[in-house]
Amino acid sequence: MTHENKRISGFSKLSKRGKIKWLVENFFKDPENVMRELKSYWLDDEDHQKILDEISENTISNYHLPYGVAPNFVINQKTYCVPMVTEESSVVAAASSAAKYWMTRGGFHAEVKSTVKLGHVHFFFRGTKEELYGELDLLIAYLREGAKDISQSMEDRGGGIQTIELKDFSHEMKDYYQLFVSFETCESMGANFINSVLERFADLMVKYFSSNGRRQPVEILMSILSNYTPESIVRVWVECPVEELGSFKAGVNAQQFADRFYQAVRTAEIDPYRAATHNKGIFNGVDAVVIATGNDFRAIEASGHTFASKSGRYTSLSACDIENGKFKFWMELPLAVGTVGGLTSLHPIAKRSFELLDDPSASELMMIIAATGLAQNFSAIRSLITTGIQDGHMRMHLGNILTGLEATEDEIESAKTHFDSQPVSVSAVRDYLYHRREQIDAQ
Ligand code: MEV
Repeated sequence: MTHENKRISGFSKLSKRGKIKWLVENFFKDPENVMRELKSYWLDDEDHQKILDEISENTISNYHLPYGVAPNFVINQKTYCVPMVTEESSVVAAASSAAKYWMTRGGFHAEVKSTVKLGHVHFFFRGTKEELYGELDLLIAYLREGAKDISQSMEDRGGGIQTIELKDFSHEMKDYYQLFVSFETCESMGANFINSVLERFADLMVKYFSSNGRRQPVEILMSILSNYTPESIVRVWVECPVEELGSFKAGVNAQQFADRFYQAVRTAEIDPYRAATHNKGIFNGVDAVVIATGNDFRAIEASGHTFASKSGRYTSLSACDIENGKFKFWMELPLAVGTVGGLTSLHPIAKRSFELLDDPSASELMMIIAATGLAQNFSAIRSLITTGIQDGHMRMHLGNILTGLEATEDEIESAKTHFDSQPVSVSAVRDYLYHRREQIDAQ
């Protein structure tokens, strides 16, 4: 079967309506309804819709995700209401609950160690090592000078190109070297700036080694930033005397909680299978704020997971200790985020997120994101070592289950009351609705 009608050339040239028309006619059983539905998600405000349409390509509609907030985040004594975009129920509730818990225990503490970003020109050098290293100082000066027009405005803002080093990988692949460049990108994530500088460096390197009649020794492979930013680090922590931890569900007291919490974090330090889930919990919080502020969550995830493997074994991003009766829980996380440029100033809601956060600097945003990640991790472990995760999770999920089972408003109300004191599961909710409907029919 060839599926000829599902193939097209020039799709991107069609108007938005044209694209939808072609799609619904060729991929859907009920074209008119699907067309109506896709259009129903367009914004009434045409200017805003245009902004969204132009963020990506071949756009036909909007895909909504909930925009929530987690209040009561005290970070370095300042109180934030943190915007979060996530599709997972209980994430915002978990962050809010941890924020409130720590609010009365000194809040979150955070510091940014550095915001340096990295990028590489990957190239082959077909001459001798001596020739390349012999030219290095002059080459670096030539590169700096030749990229001045690109780096000047970043330099005026206090950033720009920092160090340029040569890395020799010729023992791994014949003639393969890297220019290893570090950057300070101030308030922006800096991807465009970094990539533009690197591409300029690549051109300049070829030019530098051009000489009449000689074989060009430089062959550029590619120039691109690294999403691994182990120098753009934020450290976030919470701490309090063990006895101030309070008491927990399932009859767990403060000391038991501290001990079990410590052991739970150790499991993630010991075992990569647990570490992946543990760190996923951290990214539940991190990604939600990253998305709400129009930053690049794939870059953040890539960097975070690479950082978690820096010892050669994938491990926990967070750590816990109990020392002299004090409970400490902390995390160091690489984050490359911006407060200007890209989607941060384009997306109407991302702009509101910044307003909500009192227009933070990039460093302050790093602290907010990391605190939300740590809060999420705290809440997840707290549930896991006391009641188990499913109780809270399913309770939060109850609304989704009821919607999925097409419950009426009345049924939703009564189910919520009923399941206040009963374990929630899809089958339990289905049974409850079934029996309730039977009872009502019998009346
Ligand atoms: C679920 O999205 C996240 C957790 O699995 C994290 C964890 O296990 O630590 C609850």
